[in-house]
Parts: sequence; C-alpha cells; structure tokens
Amino acid sequence: MAESITITDNRTGESIEVPIVNGGVNASEWSKLLPGIWFFDPSFSTTAAADSSITELDGEAGILRYRGYPIEQLAEQSTYLEVAYLLIHGELPTAEQAAAWEHEITYHTFIHENVRKRFMEGFHHDAHPMGILVSTIAALSTFYPDAKDIFNPDSRHKQIIRLIAKMPTIAAGAHRHSVGMPFIYPDNNLDFCSNFLSMMWKVAEPHYDPDPVLARALEVLFILHADHEQNCSTTAMRVVGSAHADPYSCTAAATTALYGPRHGGANEAVIRMLTEIGTMDAVEPYIAEVKAGRTRLQGFGHRVYRNYDPRATIIKRTADEVFTVTGKNPLLDIALKLEEVALADDYFISRKLYPNVDFYSGLIYQAMGFPTSMFPVLFAIPRTAGWLSHWQELLDRDARIARPRQLYDGAPQRDYIPISERS
Ligand code: CMC
Repeated sequence: MAESITITDNRTGESIEVPIVNGGVNASEWSKLLPGIWFFDPSFSTTAAADSSITELDGEAGILRYRGYPIEQLAEQSTYLEVAYLLIHGELPTAEQAAAWEHEITYHTFIHENVRKRFMEGFHHDAHPMGILVSTIAALSTFYPDAKDIFNPDSRHKQIIRLIAKMPTIAAGAHRHSVGMPFIYPDNNLDFCSNFLSMMWKVAEPHYDPDPVLARALEVLFILHADHEQNCSTTAMRVVGSAHADPYSCTAAATTALYGPRHGGANEAVIRMLTEIGTMDAVEPYIAEVKAGRTRLQGFGHRVYRNYDPRATIIKRTADEVFTVTGKNPLLDIALKLEEVALADDYFISRKLYPNVDFYSGLIYQAMGFPTSMFPVLFAIPRTAGWLSHWQELLDRDARIARPRQLYDGAPQRDYIPISERS
C-alpha cells in the first residue's frame, strides 16, 4: 500500500489523503483542502524547498554524498575541479572530459583589467576581503551582458566556467589589496589550488611552487566545502535564481549569505573563541559559560547533523598533515581539550552538539598563513561549484519564483492621522 497521511479540517469535517512521496508531502495538496492556511516554518527547518539530485545529506547517520559518491572517497581520491565537474554535470568526467574542463577553467582565470584596477583597487585599504569579493562578483555581471541569456546552454556553460575560474583570482586579489601587496596574475602552469596559493603568497620569485602537502590540504578542504545541499547561501542562490537574475548576481547574493557568522563566518569565530580562552585552565570555565547560556561553543552544532559531521572527521586528519609542514597551531591543544570536555558533557550530548567542519578548518587556514578575514572567502571559492549546480538544476526544473506567504500579526486597518494631531 502506498504511504500517505490524512488531514482533517476539524471545522468542516472534510478530509484529504496526501501521498508521501520521496520522504515528503506535497504542500499544494494541503492547499486544496485548506486554502489560505499556511505552514508556519520561518527558518524552513521542516520544509523541503526543492527536489534535488545533487547532494544527499543524512544528518542522523552522518552521511554526505555528492551525486551518490561518499564525501570520504572524494576527499581521499578526487580533486576540487573533478568534484566541481561532478556537481555541475552529474557524472565524473572521463579523462578527455576532465582535460577539457581543466583547460577551460585554467584559461578563464584572468579577470578584466578594469575589474582589478577600477573596482578592486577602489576599495579602502582595510576593506574586508569578503566585502570586496561580494561586490566584485556582482560587478562581473556588468562585464558579461551575455550572462542574462540564462536558458542558452552555451552562455550558461561559459558563465559557469568563468565564475569557478575567477573566484580564486578575485579572492587572492582581495587579500593582496588589503595588505598593500601587488596583484599577482594567474599562472596557467599550476593546478587550481596551487595557482590560488601562488596568487596569495608569491613575492619576488619568478615561479611560486607551493608545498604539495599544503596544496593537497587545500584541495581536500575545497572538496569538503563544495556543496552542502539546501544551506543558507544555496537557498539565497536559488531564491535569487528563481527570479531569473544572471548567475553573477545570484552568486553575489549567495556569497553575501555566506558572510554571516552563523554560516561561513563560523571558523573565524572559532579562532576568536580559542584565542579568548587562551590557556588549558580556562577551558572548563568557558564550558560553564556556554552551559549557562551566556555564549555558544563556536564550531559546534549543526541544523542537520545530529550525530557527527563527516567533514569534521576528514578535516581533523588533514589538520595533522598540515601541521607536519607548518608546525602545530598553538591553539590546537585548547581545541582538543575543548572537544574532549564538551563531548563528555551531558549538555552537549543531550542536544546532539558535535564539532562541525568549522571547528578545525580555521586552525588549518591559520597555520597556512591565511588571515581570519580570508576564512569565509576560502569557503566561497569551492562553494561556487555547488551554488552553480543548484542554480542550473533550478532552471532546468522550471522552478516557479520563490514567493513564500506570511502570517500577518501587525496592526489591523486604521486611519491616517495628520502629523499635527499625533501625540
Ligand atoms: N553551543 C552551545 N549551545 C548550542 C550550540 C553551540 N554551538 N548550538 C546549539 N546550541 C544549543 C542551543 O542553545 C539550544 O539549546 P536549548 O534547546 O536549551 O535552547 C539547542 O542547542 C538547539 O540549538 P538551535 O539554536 O535550535 O540549533 P540550530 O539548528 O538553530 O542552530 C547552528 C545551528 C549551527 C546555527 C548552531 O548550532 C550554532 O550557532 N553553532 C555555532 C556556530 C557554528 O559553528 N556554525 C557553523 C555551522 S557548520 C558550517 C555551515 O554549514 O555553514
């Protein structure tokens, strides 16, 4: 027998049977019985806002898969560009497809000189790199008017390539600007992650060769951050995309959402928290403050993962590898102690609060020399592939414009009072 639920309107006694399909019930069926009665779910906690075949996430089981492939296998064996291809196209590339994809991305890493000179250099010297990134991505839409042709497959492909390719260039440029260093042009002889490291750190040497352990660590971090189904920034991407805005405007909106400390800013908050704790003795008193509700344990908890975050397990291993090259991040011992104390405490156990991906990613980035202001930028680079795959899927599935309802609880109708009569 097909699974279903029955809804009864107790005011009229009318009932309707709604089938459960793919773990959900169709809200339009509900509307047939109860027009004008809305689901109240302001943070979409119990709403499936899309059907999607990109990323599978099971928070209870700690499962994360891109297009069916477990994140553990991709982090171990794949590269960020291959994962980006997988997310966008739905299948892993053949050797020929991978070579063509890498070639296309490599040869679109340069940005228009006016973007660099007039836009990026126009920012104040202490502008946050995430602010520069958001604004520059939005500005790109004015450089590529063909991007508005969102249902033309060739145009769409070109914008996807451009966005994935140019993100590291803009990201590194934003950093160089904020520290008063000259902009470094992309090096087409380097792979995606090594090229980014070159644009970040190159000084006067003719050719920058990053440490392979660090380049691989960045690759793993980029794979882990490439997609995470309907998170806040992806939802922003889809909502703006549903209005048929061009992909640069959509990506700028998504990047803005990622800027928030509850989302892409969490790893920066972890470093601030660990620095504030400062010593091993201060760990237990800090936990007491968290339990008293006066602060939160940054890098702990997740809306979806209620068991463990599989990305956190992989990232912990990556941290160990990075520290063999950079030396141990002095904040690591505090982080480990904090994790140990929290995981043994009933407050965190009963609320199912575990370290998330951001608990360790900040420690790695800091050890690699990235300033904390660059942490959300490092998240935005790989997430671009995820955002774009959702944007494309949304357009292909002919989604209607996102337009939720509200439950109005403001003043009832009242008459306008001239200003002279207002008390
Ligand atoms: N420290 C202490 N208590 C917490 C924490 C935390 N980090 N997170 C949740 N809680 C408590 C919360 O106080 C509440 O307790 P009570 O039931 O007694 O009121 C309970 O756990 C449920 O919390 P919630 O706020 O309803 O959970 P949420 O699903 O709305 O929030 C979250 C998810 C990630 C925003 C939250 O856990 C948080 O603020 N964590 C710290 C910030 C962080 O690490 N964010 C990165 C998320 S992973 C990266 C990404 O995917 O973007």
